Amino acid sequence: MKVTKAIFPVAGLGTRFLPATKANPKEMLPVVDKPLIQYAVEEAVAAGITELIFVTSSSKRAIEDHFDSNYELESSLLERGKFDLLNIVRDILPEGVSCAYVRQKSPQGLGHAVWCAKPLVMNEPFAVLLADDLIDGGKKSCLQQMVDVYQQNHASVVAVEPIAREESKKYGVVDVVTINESVMSVRGIVEKPEPQLAPSTLGVVGRYILTPRIFTLLEEMNRGANGEIQLTDAIARLLQEEKVSALQFQGKRYDCGSKLGYLEATVAYALKHPELAKDFKQLLQSMTACLA
Ligand code: UTP
Repeated sequence: MKVTKAIFPVAGLGTRFLPATKANPKEMLPVVDKPLIQYAVEEAVAAGITELIFVTSSSKRAIEDHFDSNYELESSLLERGKFDLLNIVRDILPEGVSCAYVRQKSPQGLGHAVWCAKPLVMNEPFAVLLADDLIDGGKKSCLQQMVDVYQQNHASVVAVEPIAREESKKYGVVDVVTINESVMSVRGIVEKPEPQLAPSTLGVVGRYILTPRIFTLLEEMNRGANGEIQLTDAIARLLQEEKVSALQFQGKRYDCGSKLGYLEATVAYALKHPELAKDFKQLLQSMTACLA
């Protein structure tokens, strides 16, 4: 079965970015000129996703507006002959791609957010993308790499990257059978382990392809780390019934949920932006010269 649905959990509080995220969703923070959520949606659409499912909360209306048409803006750009800008605005949601929204009443964890999308996914495999993990996959996006793995095994896939052992409390960490190849078989997975208890130094990042069995398991989950319903815990249960693969993807992940990661992404994306790259490089060089 093809993966055509993707869940975007965007109902978190984004506390690490307060006060910026008091009234604006974290996922709408721009990296250069595009909000984080749009990068994630573009990655999903390029990987063959046609149904976008956003798990939102009451303070996230800006996301719905971003993917809706804005008649006033479009007609004004048309009248003024600003066709390039008009295309940019119209292309935010490509033709043939639909959006659906479901509310998470309160932030009870990523697992709970994914479970909220159950009525819209039903009995199909689906992707989950966390927009605050911005991933530059180069020629082939991270999700496309995962879809390729899914199509070979027809089993769930989590994206992983090497982490420092002392950082393990920030991640779900996998126990894998082989760590020499990019696709590994997952034997165990644990959320936010203490460094000395981490089963490996491979951390899960914000990309998943999951089979629908996960919904039933999520329903049965007790609260885990931080008192939240953890997706990781449900994946650990899934492992008792189904194969799960871990893909060490090609590409660079920016942790845009943290201020430093967000700044790093902004610099990296500005340095490859077609209109900005040259001037920004000069600016950066003059700024770093001042630091030396
Ligand atoms: P994070 O834990 O990184 O985001 O969740 P957060 O809670 O919004 O941010 P901080 O830690 O307070 O700064 C990863 C993703 O899962 C979503 C978030 O919106 C984010 O995109 N999420 C998290 C939900 O949708 N619901 C939840 O209950 C928790």
